[in-house]
Amino acid sequence: MTVMSPIAASLYDRVRRVIPAIEWPAFSDDIDAILALKRERNAVILAHNYQTPEIFHCVADIVGDSLALARKAMAVDADIIVLAGVHFMAETAKLLNPGKTVLIPDMRAGCSLADSVTAEDVRLMRLRYPGVPVVTYVNTSAAVKAESDICCTSGNALAVVESLCAPRVIMLPDEYLAKNIAAQTKVEIIAWKGHCEVHERFTPADIHELREAHPGVTVLAHPECPPEVVAVADFAGSTAAMSDYVGRHKPTRVVLMTECSMSDNVAVDHPEVDFVRPCNLCPHMKRITLANIRAALEENRHVVTIDPHVADRARQAVERMLAV
Ligand code: 13P
Ligand code: SF4
Repeated sequence: MTVMSPIAASLYDRVRRVIPAIEWPAFSDDIDAILALKRERNAVILAHNYQTPEIFHCVADIVGDSLALARKAMAVDADIIVLAGVHFMAETAKLLNPGKTVLIPDMRAGCSLADSVTAEDVRLMRLRYPGVPVVTYVNTSAAVKAESDICCTSGNALAVVESLCAPRVIMLPDEYLAKNIAAQTKVEIIAWKGHCEVHERFTPADIHELREAHPGVTVLAHPECPPEVVAVADFAGSTAAMSDYVGRHKPTRVVLMTECSMSDNVAVDHPEVDFVRPCNLCPHMKRITLANIRAALEENRHVVTIDPHVADRARQAVERMLAV
């Protein structure tokens, strides 16, 4: 019989509502090892809101949406940052911490939005729309950021677009985020054709069916969803904004039109709220596991590097965003 350490036992108390007891023994050994490795190596773990609860609630030091992770990455006081999230998030952490070692547990943790646009595409857009500023979603490679004027996240996109005081902006690469922002501003938005493979699958019909099956349910949607989905939701916002909404409004019953782990992670802190759980999995986020976080710390892998010529320009675009 496996004997659980007191730390693992108290962590299980926190997540018992979302992790079945039968699954916990598969996690507790890795959790103990990771907590010890973090101390030994002076490492911190940054985890995105889409990480599974045993990562998000049990080993992460800093959690949040893309904006919070970028902001908090700037203040990290450690030698090593392990990014439990996807590759563009690890690159952003590295841009803001050039002197630190940034590790990503699986190099294949990509993003359909980041894959939808290249640095050459941005250069061609500039030729087509001379003088129009380029706002790039953080869900892009450092090479794409380097060609941009400023970055944004779903949490600050409107403020970033309006901060430029320009009549027109190019917004890359998420077509739906761009259209959702265009609906809230007088600034003309020129969009790209990238989509998030997780959020593009939600439809207005899904929401109508949910409302019929669960009368009174509050529907929250991520702005990477198509505009017709956002139009029939009760609220749209970044992953952090959705989490804050649940905390502030405490709806009796809620559905989050986003990645599956979000509901689990928010439900841990809100036992009084009933979460309806249709969701779509992000296969890239799900590449990160306790086992490969442990291996990352044991074997110092996989080190995130960025070409210094690209990094200087990409950092400026991220720093301009953080200054808004
Ligand atoms: P947030 O910035 O809202 O956390 O979104 C990141 C992301 O990848 C959503 O799919
Ligand atoms: Fe990219 Fe969508 Fe996955 Fe977020 S959920 S990392 S936008 S593929």
